[in-house]
Amino acid sequence: MSSEAFDADNATLEQLRDVLINKNGDAKLSNRYRALFNLKSIGTEDQDRERAHVAIKYIAECFKDDSELLKHEVAYVLGQTHDLYAAPFLREVLESKDQQVMVRHEAAEALGALGDKESLPLLTEYLENDPSIEIRQTCELAIDRIHWENSDKAKTEVLEKNIFSSVDPAPPLATNTSTDKVEKLQVILNDQEAPLFERYRAMFRLRDLGTDEACLALASGFDDPSALFKHEIAYVFGQLSNPVTVPSLIRMLKDETQAGMVRHEAAEALGSIATEEVLAVLQEVSKDKEPVVRESAIVALDMYEYENSNEFEYATVV
Ligand SMILES: [Fe+2]
Ligand SMILES: [Fe+2]
Repeated sequence: MSSEAFDADNATLEQLRDVLINKNGDAKLSNRYRALFNLKSIGTEDQDRERAHVAIKYIAECFKDDSELLKHEVAYVLGQTHDLYAAPFLREVLESKDQQVMVRHEAAEALGALGDKESLPLLTEYLENDPSIEIRQTCELAIDRIHWENSDKAKTEVLEKNIFSSVDPAPPLATNTSTDKVEKLQVILNDQEAPLFERYRAMFRLRDLGTDEACLALASGFDDPSALFKHEIAYVFGQLSNPVTVPSLIRMLKDETQAGMVRHEAAEALGSIATEEVLAVLQEVSKDKEPVVRESAIVALDMYEYENSNEFEYATVV
């Protein structure tokens, strides 16, 4: 199969895997992403769970790759499958010293998203002992999320329906509390003394409110010292795709003192907003010396080009 034109929608499971793991060595990163998204929808939605498990197993084969960017996406995708079959692959990644921090972070988060109670001892171990603050904070969130999911609160709280259908690192704050105002949520969001889980809950409540005012409140979180916290705000901005967030995202992306995970997520969010101004900035960072930033920009630009080209013609080049 040519690396240039890849018709992911009509490929077999094995063809998708081969492009994902770049078996032939000539697959474009954007095509590898496309293969991953198709495997994800089979692994997530397929009524045929046996076929879904094959898709999950194929997705996990990609952990042998070098691309930190692609592997972190793979971990994220496995966390969205609602299937504990994915958990052992993710535990192995969290425990691996050879995997980059961003990949291990996403694996720990994914275990939280799966609500995997069996992973609690492992997550506690890394919360207490991992040298990376991003990993420790992720484990803290994942543990709190698993406890929350199994608590009475989860059954009684009234939550806004998540229109993005993502499983998030924390649920939004309940809609029936007295805190349901942008100003109050912003205070919780930026309270560095509050538990991270609570601050994330405020973050996702602000996302669900989704107004310009809520977006600007979220942008105030970019002054936080935690890379993890800032990358999550950028992720949420990608979901919202509200142009009001563009100046703050460009500030994060261009600031080379920010962690790779923050700049990567800012690039990806800008890719989904894709105004003319944004495309020029992505062109600029597509030569960045930080691989996750550079690759994020390249994939975003490729995806943009693909979506704006004549898809029919594109698909028939195969
Ligand atoms: Fe992440
Ligand atoms: Fe990411």
